Amino acid sequence: MSDPEALKRDAAAKALSFVEDGMRLGLGTGSTAKHFVDLLAERVAGGLKVVGVPTSEVTRRQAESLRVPLTTLDETPELDLTVDGADEIDPQLNLIKGGGGALLREKIVAAASRRMIVIADASKQVQTLGRFALPIEVNGFGLEATKRAIARVLAEAGCPGPLNLRKTSDGHVFVTDGGHMILDAACDRIPDPAGLASRLHTVPGVVEHGLFIGLASFAIIASPGGAEVVGRV
Ligand code: A5P
Repeated sequence: MSDPEALKRDAAAKALSFVEDGMRLGLGTGSTAKHFVDLLAERVAGGLKVVGVPTSEVTRRQAESLRVPLTTLDETPELDLTVDGADEIDPQLNLIKGGGGALLREKIVAAASRRMIVIADASKQVQTLGRFALPIEVNGFGLEATKRAIARVLAEAGCPGPLNLRKTSDGHVFVTDGGHMILDAACDRIPDPAGLASRLHTVPGVVEHGLFIGLASFAIIASPGGAEVVGRV
């Protein structure tokens, strides 16, 4: 059971046990959330009645192809449960998300949900957030000025940088589903994630950032010994 994909699937399978008939679900993005949507689709094919709001165009396409019924937050503004992955999870269940670039929709969907379950393998658990570069979604207008203002906020928060504009593997600027760009901030350690989260929002041009503070209800962490709930169900 040490195959990473098997561990992700294990976490996703356990999260499925929290899904009940009639639920309105937030569907996460990323390789772990993809397993959840696959497994959910099997249950839907077997008669489970749920409706989902995808957190990215990639997840929307996956869910549509598997015939998982979808809705939007305009039609269904309150959700029962969101299941999503994370790039880092600290002991307080604060998260870094956005490695896949879907952080804006992921945060909107998680905030609209009564509960959020984070699914991951144990490699995502850290004592202090920051080893994974923090994704910050920005408007393209005034990019250089926004970048400098963010760099000042990061320096004050003890994050030395660098701050890199995300590119795709073929060298093009990465553009999010919302048409924005992403700056990835190398921090190493984020001593005060909640403080940095609010300070980043003072910078005009910042659309959203990947610090998810107090949004996760509990996590399901898979290791070779099995998938375990971390936090209070
Ligand atoms: C997508 O934008 C991210 O927030 C993902 O949820 C996160 O990067 C975890 O992805 P994996 O499950 O692929 O590691």
